[in-house]
Amino acid sequence: MIELTLKNYQEKIDMRLDMLLSLSAQPYNKVVEAARYSLFAGGKRIRPILLLEFYKLFGGNDDCAYNFACAIEMIHTYSLIHDDLPCMDNDDMRRGKPSNHIKFGEGMALLAGDALLTESFGVAARTIGIDEARVKDALTYLSNNAGINGMIGGQVIDTCFEGETDIDLITKTYSLKTGALIKAAAVCGSILAGADEEMQKKAEEYALCVGLAFQIIDDILDRQGSEEKLGKPVGSDLKNQKVTMVDLLGVDGAKAKAKELTDRALNILDELTNENDTLKEITNYLLDRDY
Ligand code: IPE
Ligand code: IPE
Ligand code: MG
Ligand code: MG
Ligand code: MG
Repeated sequence: MIELTLKNYQEKIDMRLDMLLSLSAQPYNKVVEAARYSLFAGGKRIRPILLLEFYKLFGGNDDCAYNFACAIEMIHTYSLIHDDLPCMDNDDMRRGKPSNHIKFGEGMALLAGDALLTESFGVAARTIGIDEARVKDALTYLSNNAGINGMIGGQVIDTCFEGETDIDLITKTYSLKTGALIKAAAVCGSILAGADEEMQKKAEEYALCVGLAFQIIDDILDRQGSEEKLGKPVGSDLKNQKVTMVDLLGVDGAKAKAKELTDRALNILDELTNENDTLKEITNYLLDRDY
C-alpha cells in the first residue's frame, strides 16, 4: 500500500523533474546529460515526498508545491554526486549505476553537482500559485539548511573529524549532513501551505527525529545491507574509517535508537493530526527500509 503511494509520487516527481531539466543543443549540454544521469537513476524521492505530504497536511490541496519539491531532490542529488567523489567518500556505485564521476569523469561530476545546486534555487523560485512571501520564506529556510549551518556543515564535520568517537559530535553531524535537508523538506512544505510558527516547529522536531533515524539506518545498511538492493557499496564507512552509530552502539543498539527516534516522530505527528495515515506509513517505512 505505502509502496504504491510512494510509486505514484515518484512518477509525478520524475515527470516534473524531466520538464525542469531538459537536454538542449548547446555545446555545454554534457553537464545536463551528467546531471540527468544521476537524477533519474532511481532515488527513493523521500525528501520531495515529505515536502508534498507536509504541504498537504497543512491544507495545500494542489500541485503547486511540485517545483519546490523537485528543487530539494536536485539539491539532494548534487550532494550524492559530490559525496561519492574520490576526494570525499570515493564510492564507485550510486543508485545502482556507476557513480557520476566514474561515468563522466571528475570534472563533469563536479560541474553536474554545481549545476543541480544552482538550478535548484531557480526552480524553487519559479513556484507558481503560492503566496510569494511564503515562497521567499521557504527559500530562505532551504538555503540555510542546505548551506553552511546545514548539510554542508555536516559534510564538513564528517570530512574533517574522521575517526571521531564523541557521540554528541556524531549526532550533530547526522542532524546536519542528513537531518537538515529532511527538515527543510518538512518545514518548507509547511511554510508553503501557510502553517503557523508553532506548527512549523512541530514539523521541524518531527523531521529532526526522522533525519537522525534515517542516517542511523543508512549506517546499519552500510554495514550489513545488500549492495544489490542499496545500489551503492556496502562497507564504505569502514573503508573511510568513519566511526558511525553502529560502532558506538552496535547494530542492535543503533536499531533501537532509530526505533526510539521513529516513535518520537510518530508521537509528534499525532499532535499534528489524527488523520494523516500516509505520513505515519512513510515514517515507519523509513525505519524498516532495506535500501
Ligand atoms: C542517501 O540518501 C544519503 C543519505 C543522506 C543517507 P537516500 O537514501 O535518500 O538516497 P536515494 O535518494 O534514495 O538514492
Ligand atoms: C551522506 O552520508 C550525506 C550526504 C549529505 C550526501 P553518507 O556518505 O553516509 O551517504 P551515502 O551512504 O554515501 O549515501
Ligand atoms: Mg559521506
Ligand atoms: Mg557516502
Ligand atoms: Mg552512508
